[in-house]
Amino acid sequence: MARVSARKRGRFITFEGLDGCGKSTQLKRLAEVLRAEGIAVLVTREPGGTPIGERLRSIVLDSATLGLAPRAELAILFAARAQQVHENILPALKAGRWVLCDRFTDSSEAYQGGGRGLGSEAVLTMHRVVCGNLQPDMTVLMDSDVTASVARARRRNLAKVATAPDGEADENRFEQENQAFFTRVQQAYHAIAKREPQRVLMLDARRQPDVVHREIVEVVRQRFLGAANERQSKN
Ligand code: TYD
Repeated sequence: MARVSARKRGRFITFEGLDGCGKSTQLKRLAEVLRAEGIAVLVTREPGGTPIGERLRSIVLDSATLGLAPRAELAILFAARAQQVHENILPALKAGRWVLCDRFTDSSEAYQGGGRGLGSEAVLTMHRVVCGNLQPDMTVLMDSDVTASVARARRRNLAKVATAPDGEADENRFEQENQAFFTRVQQAYHAIAKREPQRVLMLDARRQPDVVHREIVEVVRQRFLGAANERQSKN
């Protein structure tokens, strides 16, 4: 198969969904498949992904952070994102690497816009100003059951806290929100999927992980690894 120039822009794929929906596992599995195809892949996450972003992550996710105003929360998440775009995402895409990111601006639209009630427009405006309106080539939205997902995320995070050294920050701030909050988050995700069906692949994440994985790989192959294959060399 012909190799394209290393200058060819890479693909940017994001994973979205409620806490505990299984997106991180699916992201890792897709990365393995792509690497096996010889594609250079950068895996990253939000909030975080850079040294500065990881520090901001601990502020925004630590349940010891009290009294953070919704707009301040949004601004911190976007500060981490702007750094991530500048330091990781754009350089990788320009170098022809694919970027798989665990959460991106759709998370802010769903959690801060929907969950916190700031609305979509504030988030999308912020995205234009702070992130140059960078859009993923594809977003995998893992649609799951609100109660089951949040229960799973809470169990996982409690287990992490139980084994963490004394005084270490936890990441439970959002898990403490109630059912109504996560229902608003899910509704906002559905609205994004409806608004941008070309970009957003919404799939039923309640199925077996293997089944979900096969579906994701199939769509990625169809969209990006088709006849006019744009496979990158590892460098
Ligand atoms: P994440 O580490 O993906 O946790 P999980 O694996 O439980 O989904 O995300 C941490 C939390 O941060 C999650 O509850 C969602 C929240 N979040 C926002 O509220 N807005 C954002 O823009 C991002 C990126 C995350």
